[in-house]
Amino acid sequence: MFTKAIVRKPAETFANGITTAKLGKPDYKLALKQHEAYCNALIKCGLELTVLDALPAFPDSCFVEDTAVVTKDFGVIARPGDPRRLGEEQEIIKVLEPLLQLHYIKEPGFLDGGDIMQADDRFYIGLSTRTNLAGSKQLHKIVSQYNYESISIPVCNLLHFKTGVNYLGENNLLIHRDFCSKDDLKSFNQIVIERGEEYAANSLRINDYVIVPKGFPKTLNAIKKLGYKTIELNLSEYQKMDGGLSCLSLRF
Ligand code: GLY
Repeated sequence: MFTKAIVRKPAETFANGITTAKLGKPDYKLALKQHEAYCNALIKCGLELTVLDALPAFPDSCFVEDTAVVTKDFGVIARPGDPRRLGEEQEIIKVLEPLLQLHYIKEPGFLDGGDIMQADDRFYIGLSTRTNLAGSKQLHKIVSQYNYESISIPVCNLLHFKTGVNYLGENNLLIHRDFCSKDDLKSFNQIVIERGEEYAANSLRINDYVIVPKGFPKTLNAIKKLGYKTIELNLSEYQKMDGGLSCLSLRF
């Protein structure tokens, strides 16, 4: 069970963030509205929410998941793999310090929280353009102190591991059909996302619900068929900036 979440409001500079999506410029007012709906969904899932102020110096900072890896027992302050995001992690330290025992990814390691997927007692660490082997090894060492297993998985042609792979619980895994390391994940019940619905691979299980991005009916039905209650949210403005449901919060 998750009890808490941290989100950060999008800044007016949001449209200047990093993106490869080619879906056009996001509408800031609509992004704020979608963020509010996201916060309400987290509350509906039973989470106590901390809403952090926007950071105009960091256009991508609403994607707060990338700044840390958190559990109920400890937090790991990440070290963003894109230099344009370096510094965001400093802003989350003061928020997490009173709540969790903290550890830090250090040079030459870099690691984005979006590359880290927890499935029960194991962390899957995506090796991507944002997370390197040094960062992965450091995280492995930290989580093993708390008796978690960890395994590194290569990520190709996707921004983050969780852009394409997300654990729902009960051994069910949503997976992008072209994910390059499918065999490393074959112990899971893989729900392969239909072509054209790839964005919905980043659906988010929180307690009794799975939050699904709006507009992906096949994925929504597949998740419902597994017996989950769902909440649909329009994430159009975040999709334009290469961000998804999981990136918008830290949950623990
Ligand atoms: N725009 C999100 C990221 O590139 O990290």
